[in-house]
Amino acid sequence: MGIRNDLETGLITLHTAHTSYQMWADGLGVVHHLYYGPSIGEADLRCLEFRSDCGFSPQPAGLDMQRDYSLDTLCQEYTGSGVGDYRIGCLRLAAGDGSRIADLRFAGAEILPGKYELPGLPAAFDNGGECETLRLTLRDPVTGLTVILLYGVYEAADVITRAALLENGGTAPIQLEKAASACLDIPFGEWELIHFHGRHCMERQPERAPLLHAVQTIRSARGASSHQHNPFAILAAPHTTEDAGECLGAMLVYSGNFKIECELSQMHSTRLVAGISDDDFCWTLNPGERFAAPEVLFSYSAAGLGLLSRQYHHFLQHNIIRSVWRDRPRPVLINNWEATYMDFDARRIWDIARQAKELGVEMLVLDDGWFGSRVDDRSGLGDWECNEEKLGCTLDQLIGRVREMGLLFGLWIEPEMVSPGTALYAAHPEWVLAAPGRSPATGRSQLVLDMGRPDVVEYLYQVFHRLLASHDISYIKWDMNRNMTDVFSHALPAGRQGEAFHRYMLGLYDLLGRLTRDFPEVLLEGCAGGGGRFDAGMLAYCPQIWCSDDTDPIHRIKIQYGTSFGYPPAAMGSHVSASPNHQTGRSTLLSTRATVAMAGAFGYELDLQKLTDEEKDLVRVQIQQYKALQPLLLEGRYDRLTDALADTCFTAWQFTAPDKSRAVVSLVVIDPQANPWPIHLRLKGLDPAARYRESLTQHIYTGAALCHAGLTLPIMQGDYPALQIMIERMDTE
Ligand code: DGJ
Repeated sequence: MGIRNDLETGLITLHTAHTSYQMWADGLGVVHHLYYGPSIGEADLRCLEFRSDCGFSPQPAGLDMQRDYSLDTLCQEYTGSGVGDYRIGCLRLAAGDGSRIADLRFAGAEILPGKYELPGLPAAFDNGGECETLRLTLRDPVTGLTVILLYGVYEAADVITRAALLENGGTAPIQLEKAASACLDIPFGEWELIHFHGRHCMERQPERAPLLHAVQTIRSARGASSHQHNPFAILAAPHTTEDAGECLGAMLVYSGNFKIECELSQMHSTRLVAGISDDDFCWTLNPGERFAAPEVLFSYSAAGLGLLSRQYHHFLQHNIIRSVWRDRPRPVLINNWEATYMDFDARRIWDIARQAKELGVEMLVLDDGWFGSRVDDRSGLGDWECNEEKLGCTLDQLIGRVREMGLLFGLWIEPEMVSPGTALYAAHPEWVLAAPGRSPATGRSQLVLDMGRPDVVEYLYQVFHRLLASHDISYIKWDMNRNMTDVFSHALPAGRQGEAFHRYMLGLYDLLGRLTRDFPEVLLEGCAGGGGRFDAGMLAYCPQIWCSDDTDPIHRIKIQYGTSFGYPPAAMGSHVSASPNHQTGRSTLLSTRATVAMAGAFGYELDLQKLTDEEKDLVRVQIQQYKALQPLLLEGRYDRLTDALADTCFTAWQFTAPDKSRAVVSLVVIDPQANPWPIHLRLKGLDPAARYRESLTQHIYTGAALCHAGLTLPIMQGDYPALQIMIERMDTE
């Protein structure tokens, strides 16, 4: 187990509980990738390497007669630049003399206890004895560029993290035009790419297609990981299903512009390169300086996509989310956004709070519109003083009354933005991203602050530190409502403008890091117009992220389904909203809305006073149900029981306790049928020998029967009815 480095052969093998990853530094110093897959014990897989004299694939200097050796055909751990590998690469650079070449050769390997850290970037951590680090050094002899490849081997979690540090050990500046985090060169096999595309209000929809002999790129150039693409991709063997077959994932711990590129090569090997997008990127690395490329989380499953997802869920919950809230039950909240939008005063908020408290809600979240001149979405961002005239009282008075009612208080902020017309913009027009001589484009009528500037970050730190230190605030919703344009930083010289996007992210992480360290007890919910920045980078600071601005439960099923391939349900903010739904106009039952919202960090976002007495009683019950189910959500196993995007009449999912003592199965009819087919479901992950009582009929089944024979459910018709079925293990007699 752990990391094996055979100094004699140059063979390095990383072992996790169920996987092995093997590489080899040859006599020339080229580091070959040999294998990533199920455990292979002590095997030496160099014998599997395919060598052939491949036409038009050049030989490194000195090997002109060794025609079967070419960087163009070898599988490698990290590629250089301009030395005869024509596939997608990790590196592009311009050295001091204008040359664009880096020939990376092995310069040492070290095994270190614990987990490496990445300066300025979020990364996985070790809770104690979980991880070992491999530090592999590659060097280009001419420029002095050193690339340190970092591997974090999490044995029990079956996760291997990777990152790269690029150091200029030469005497002239190097312009880095591309600096990927990792390359995974898979020598053999057929692979399909699964990625998660979408749009505002329909994020992370899985799409699966065979890899082509062409470059397939998933990317964001928006300055955020984005609604449109997610920095997570899966390679799956063609027949891999939820429960069987090979697949591996690559997830970036990064929230800005990214690229995940895949290419099926001329030799039929598959290359995946992941990292910061090289579009609009150029970083000057002066002698002695170091650049950290963000982390990638790799995980492999030989037993289908379900296991791969569970490996990511567990890893993100335990090794990425740092918040003290990661294992704590989250308070059931009421958010006023869809109840009032920006049309409220303190009395209206107190009415909502009073009603919510009466029904069992635990926290009131005051959303957008409480500050500055914020009466609509065209104004006010940046002036973070409470609008006492609008509220009719001070912020403390508003909070005080909510607290007296016995509720916690949460507040919405959008720190990274500024509205034109605010005092902040008037005082610091140079703080926004905008190029000289041009009026910047707006999005939602707002401008983007240049978070790459230390003075901007310091200012925002002071403002929000003061806000949190001087008010009784238990929760913050950190929103971000536009993508970037006109990315020019007034703090950077002309030759360094290619750094602005990434410096923004470093500034954002710095601010998030400082505030979460200062206020560890504040529950931070990430948000970017819903799920526009739902990634492992943000999860390092926010234990939950508002999953989508689309709260229609029938759409949410699809969004939460897609999100669940990489991200834990406990991290998905999910609320019961009004019917008809404000985004789609669709009417659904209150019970259906709650069933869907209970698959995430649960809350309400509607005018509770408009509910009938019967509905209010139902809300009381729902809150108690959710509180009883929360341990399953936080620590349990999550299974997708159906493909929510397939043309089926219902969709279902299951949470199971780690000790398999109980499970809850949720099912929603998304297309009620005339002359219906049976609704039949096979459960997952139960103890085959144990006996379980099923709550719908009170019948008793073995776990094996529930998983293999399944359940046939009653005919369900009407407007999207839902069911929650409790499965309880009977005490052993
Ligand atoms: C976008 C968020 O996703 C919404 O929930 C809400 O907070 C609005 N912004 C407020 O402007």
